[in-house]
Amino acid sequence: MNDLHPARTTKDGIRIYDPADFAGMHAAGQLAARILDEVASHVVPGVTTGALDQMIEDKVNAAGAKSATIGYKGYKHASCISVNHVVCHGIPSDKKLKDGDILNIDVTVIVDGWFGDTSRMYVAGKLARKAERLINVTHDSLMRGIAAVKPGNTFGDIGHAIQTFVESHRMSVVTDFCGHGLGRVFHAPPNVLHYGKPGVGAVLEPGMFFTIEPMVNLGRAETKTLADDWTAVTRDKSLSAQFEHSVGVTEDGVEIFTLSPGDLFHPTYER
Ligand code: MF3
Ligand code: CO
Ligand code: CO
Repeated sequence: MNDLHPARTTKDGIRIYDPADFAGMHAAGQLAARILDEVASHVVPGVTTGALDQMIEDKVNAAGAKSATIGYKGYKHASCISVNHVVCHGIPSDKKLKDGDILNIDVTVIVDGWFGDTSRMYVAGKLARKAERLINVTHDSLMRGIAAVKPGNTFGDIGHAIQTFVESHRMSVVTDFCGHGLGRVFHAPPNVLHYGKPGVGAVLEPGMFFTIEPMVNLGRAETKTLADDWTAVTRDKSLSAQFEHSVGVTEDGVEIFTLSPGDLFHPTYER
């Protein structure tokens, strides 16, 4: 940004970034994605989520970057690790993973002031058939949402693409949490809903940066937050999954900043 290119914000309060800003988001997104690649081989039965989080914190520091979550609203960890019926914001702990556990690891890093935010699913040991279906549907719902990202479409188009796909598989989209604008800040307008109606909501423009991060439950959509004030779980104790990418709207579509360098984003396609 300079005098010739002042920061522009839409009437919905969504910041429009410059073409040159995509490089900063790419660098931040790629670091977060590479860290998620590097922890994959460590997700095995017997390892604690706290040990995985420490590994992630060490990698952020080794890269000369900063964790966006440490110190965020009092949060103390470099990742959120959400196991089985935990929907999101699971706190790393000394609890050991068991054979068959599925988990989301969510990492946000700051590189040169740019935020890269991504999460994906992992499996400790043997993956049960039901869990595999949930993970596949959740991943594919994110990619359908991303396919709706192009100038002229609306945020409602993104949510509609995700919701209709998930519900066609008789699963539920969580409505208590949403994606968000990001860039030079962690959480900015708009709220990116994972449900919606075609043509509704703000119109997408080149230079918008945001996350899409659908949470999908095998049972009902309702969640509740535990007494630790972070951990969100399914009310009916059903399994939950989530995938998250940080993306930017380009002149003719979308750039995904958080693509996996090792092509490890999806845990079950590689098995
Ligand atoms: N990375 C999460 C997101 O997708 C936010 C985590 S905030 C924390 O927006 F404090 F819980 F880490
Ligand atoms: Co996010
Ligand atoms: Co995240």
